[in-house]
Amino acid sequence: MNFEERIVSREATEEDPLEEQNLRPRRLSRYIGQSQLKKNLKIAIQAAKGRGEPLDHLLFHGFPGLGKTTLAYIIANEMEANIKVTSGPVIERAGDLAAILTSLQEGDLLFIDEIHRLNHVVEEILYPAMEDFQLDLVIGQGPGARVVKMGLSRFTLVGATTRTGLLTPPLRDRFGIILRLDFYSPEDLVAIVKRSASVLGINIDDAGAMEIGHRSRGTPRVANRLLKRVRDFAEVKAEGHISSAVAREALEMLAVDHLGLDEMDRKILLTIIDRFQGGPLGIDTLATAVCEEKNTLEDVYEPFLIQSGFLLRTPRGRMATIAAYEHFGRKIDKIADPNGPGQNNLFR
Ligand code: ADE
Repeated sequence: MNFEERIVSREATEEDPLEEQNLRPRRLSRYIGQSQLKKNLKIAIQAAKGRGEPLDHLLFHGFPGLGKTTLAYIIANEMEANIKVTSGPVIERAGDLAAILTSLQEGDLLFIDEIHRLNHVVEEILYPAMEDFQLDLVIGQGPGARVVKMGLSRFTLVGATTRTGLLTPPLRDRFGIILRLDFYSPEDLVAIVKRSASVLGINIDDAGAMEIGHRSRGTPRVANRLLKRVRDFAEVKAEGHISSAVAREALEMLAVDHLGLDEMDRKILLTIIDRFQGGPLGIDTLATAVCEEKNTLEDVYEPFLIQSGFLLRTPRGRMATIAAYEHFGRKIDKIADPNGPGQNNLFR
């Protein structure tokens, strides 16, 4: 199964963008969760507005689906600024970025999603643009090449990445504000489900919202996707009302279990338990065994499994935890020590 087709995938799918835009809160005060981040952002916005200056360049990092794009739109709204949205892999040549930068007006926001995927040539154009609002254009090639400097309007770059470690230090250092998005608490997700249901006119009770929120893997994008699938089920089978029983039945049909694990999660964990004696095994072996790309495993599947206490990343490889054995009702015969042979067994 392609990870983008998963009902609980944290990646955006093709049907998501428009729907997501409708569900996105437009003001910081309506944004649920990430309370520390919101406090910091609110101060930065108020201060910049008070000085009548554009906001400092800002970097969001966090796993897919946690709200980086939503926050970029909120900032634009709060700053009463225009926003241009693009992404790292889309900007292929220096000229593409130069065209974007020269089109920006004073105070505009430029949002670059997956900024870690910018190529080096393009990235180097960003350095003087971020630091001095200046574009260094190279005209010609070889010994006759000249650099022409062009002034840019003062803009704010908002970058988003899944991990700051993927960014080159010179790029990372040019962001004045770096904010991390964490997984959401089940309570926040329940609140998000209720808010989205009210925006979409979906009839749901508290217990129904709880059922969905608790299976949303700490991720609003998953919560909203599950809500829409459960709505379909409720419309066909329960006159459109989502109670806890209806939500449970719908989610069972979608093969999402009570903790939010789906088929791929089960495949990953059961591969480690049943075929590799619980691990440890290297990420490359695991990726081959479950027919998935290593990067996708690392960025999309593993974070939630690790966060939920089902998977360990050890220096010797990936291991299933006792909680994973118990979740699947597997007997624990022998389990390797993640610290290696002859060390204290901290695992138990
Ligand atoms: N929809 C998606 N993410 C949200 C959030 N953090 N708060 C409110 N609604 C949302």
